[in-house]
Amino acid sequence: MSRVAFCPSCGAPLEGLWQHVAVVCRYCKVEVVPGGAGDPVPQRMPDDGRPRLSIAGRTYLVEGHLAAGESAEVYRGRWVVRLGELVILKIARHKPDGDALRHEGAFLRRLADSPAVGADHFARLLPTPIALAPVQVAGTERVVSVMQWRSGFHTSLQDAIEAFPDGLDGRVLVWIFKRLLELLAFTHRAGVLHGAVLPSHVLVHPRDHGAILVGWGAAVARTRGGAGLPLPRISKVHADIYPDDVRRGGPADRATDLAMAARCIERAAGARGLLVDRFGSLPAPIGRVVREASRGQHHDAWALRDRLDEIARQAYGPPRYSPLRMPGWGGTSAD
Ligand SMILES: Nc1ncnc2c1ncn2[C@@H]1O[C@H](COP(=O)(O)OP(=O)(O)OP(=O)(O)O)[C@@H](O)[C@H]1O
Ligand SMILES: [Mg+2]
Repeated sequence: MSRVAFCPSCGAPLEGLWQHVAVVCRYCKVEVVPGGAGDPVPQRMPDDGRPRLSIAGRTYLVEGHLAAGESAEVYRGRWVVRLGELVILKIARHKPDGDALRHEGAFLRRLADSPAVGADHFARLLPTPIALAPVQVAGTERVVSVMQWRSGFHTSLQDAIEAFPDGLDGRVLVWIFKRLLELLAFTHRAGVLHGAVLPSHVLVHPRDHGAILVGWGAAVARTRGGAGLPLPRISKVHADIYPDDVRRGGPADRATDLAMAARCIERAAGARGLLVDRFGSLPAPIGRVVREASRGQHHDAWALRDRLDEIARQAYGPPRYSPLRMPGWGGTSAD
């Protein structure tokens, strides 16, 4: 397992194994130790006045605010023992939001324990719950969910859409869509619908062609016969991403997740409206496949992934390295 911090000299992400006391920055080569060079590593991080939360017997330092979700605030945290494992701390904003966190935790545990093919691989990509408990925050009781930190996944598709309102490169959208379909193929096999595939819930690894899904608070179990179930919650911020009938309380099924993933991709392609030949940055043959999915015409994630792969090869040739270059990352989007 690795830990990630940021170089105090150049600001680049630093990655090192737990047992490494010092980490050398890949970019500016500075040697970073959690104290002065030669200092012993303290058993616990000294209390420097920053906020701490005590959850399930462990104390976590709250290091920085990452994002404001619809029902929770999300922070980067660190276990205070020795060099401290990095974690995600998701804190319910109001007391009733705790139910959504418990709901999310239950589905994530179910996916982590799934015997479905691919579980070993995909469980490492999904948020991994560490602990969930009510704590007193600013005098009120709030549920806090602690999850493993995933190195490199800190750009959401929403961030990318805001950075490129006229559309991301179509090649980048192809790998993002393929990663989402592979993940959804696994979760559907494991009997779980995500139920909220929204731009803010897609986290992208810009350099490694990675994409994962967070925000499992509206997940539902797939019924055996495939009949759909209404979603427990609908996002107010991204209501337009849902198929109309599902938004109105109609049943969701596998096609719903695929339709929402496709709508995220259309949004990220800069496709405006649903005009037949307007696919934004996507070449028309790829745009047509994405449009079919966005209309709910596909329910098998793996079959759609294969179709997309085939059409993308015709349009672009064999897959090539196409990192997402977010502005402000020195043109390389390293981590
Ligand atoms: N595991 C994670 N790693 C990195 N960032 C995360 C993680 N989980 C959440 N985030 C960030 O925090 C934002 C809010 O998270 P999330 O959507 O899970 O909270 P929420 O909207 O309050 O809950 P829900 O969507 O389940 O109702 C996400 O859009 C994402 O930017
Ligand atoms: Mg959310």
